[in-house]
Amino acid sequence: MMMMVGRSGASKQLAVSMLGMAGTRFFSTATPQAAIAGLRGSALVSEKKGGFSPVDIPAWPKTTAVHHMQSGYLHGTRSRSTLALNQEKAKESEKQTKTDSDHSVSAEAGRDEKGIVSYWGVPPSKVVKEDGTEWKWTCFRPWETYKSDLSIDLTKHHVPTNFMDKLAYWSVKILRWPTDLFFQRRYGCRAMMLETVAAVPGMVGGMLLHCKSLRRFEQSGGWIKALLEEAENERMHLMTFMEVSKPRWYERALVFTVQGIFFNAYFLGYLISPKFAHRVVGYLEEEAIHSYTEFLKELDKGNIDNVPAPAIAIDYWQLPKDSTLRDVVMVVRADEAHHRDVNHFASDVHYQGRELKDSPAPIGYH
Ligand SMILES: [Fe+2]
Ligand SMILES: [Fe+2]
Repeated sequence: MMMMVGRSGASKQLAVSMLGMAGTRFFSTATPQAAIAGLRGSALVSEKKGGFSPVDIPAWPKTTAVHHMQSGYLHGTRSRSTLALNQEKAKESEKQTKTDSDHSVSAEAGRDEKGIVSYWGVPPSKVVKEDGTEWKWTCFRPWETYKSDLSIDLTKHHVPTNFMDKLAYWSVKILRWPTDLFFQRRYGCRAMMLETVAAVPGMVGGMLLHCKSLRRFEQSGGWIKALLEEAENERMHLMTFMEVSKPRWYERALVFTVQGIFFNAYFLGYLISPKFAHRVVGYLEEEAIHSYTEFLKELDKGNIDNVPAPAIAIDYWQLPKDSTLRDVVMVVRADEAHHRDVNHFASDVHYQGRELKDSPAPIGYH
């Protein structure tokens, strides 16, 4: 701070006025360089965790919000919300700034006082793949990718024996009828649309368990993470199928409507009976396996073009570069089988009279 105050008389007065206005809130004992180094350091650590080579973060551009952050740190005039500024004091300080010999520094200080931003810019970390090329996806990182376990048993079926399981089973079967009618054999479109629904339960369940953990001051047994992982995985299915099938306007409208209904229905259902909610999802996943099997049959018959796999799918599932849509459907179907297991397992835990937190969650089960 001494360094900042010593830069000019105006800066000194301004810094003193800031202290008067806001106490110690705006001044950190850490130097700006240390703060920036800290940000970079944390980025590098996370990159190393994933086993990918870090690339040094380039100097932050002077034309963005980061510029304000840097100049504020360096000259001691930023670091406060513009909303909190006293306008008169800002004008006074600007006047004095004009007469200061260090004109360029003070002018910048004046601009900062009228600045627009009141948030910190955080530069994205850069990572490269093992082959040295830059990782281009910001929606997921290399350490979130995986090789699908295609050996999973696709035929496993939970036999409904009691009333609640039968209700879950037949609810899903009945829902399939209008779905078949609407999509018929347009499996690409069907997959894309159904993934917009499939990504909801994991998020709702994870959110409710998260709130429960907070309310009860207790651990979740990893189930929050496991369910959120499922939601993210389903959303990646959607991001993939978006590349091969574009929704029409009425399909978008349908998704909008269905999401509004399904989100709230599942939310209430999970609050009332998580064992029923998980069982329903377990059966939905069984249906998803069936749908993707039909999709594969259509691809093999040549009724659907076996186009090259989207780039996002190749990177997410670590597929060979020459993979096709068929390979993508295979790994997606394997994912659905894993979701089936997770949800039937969760339901069974409840049936045994235990809570999810007492049974370690299958985190990272792909
Ligand atoms: Fe899915
Ligand atoms: Fe699924």
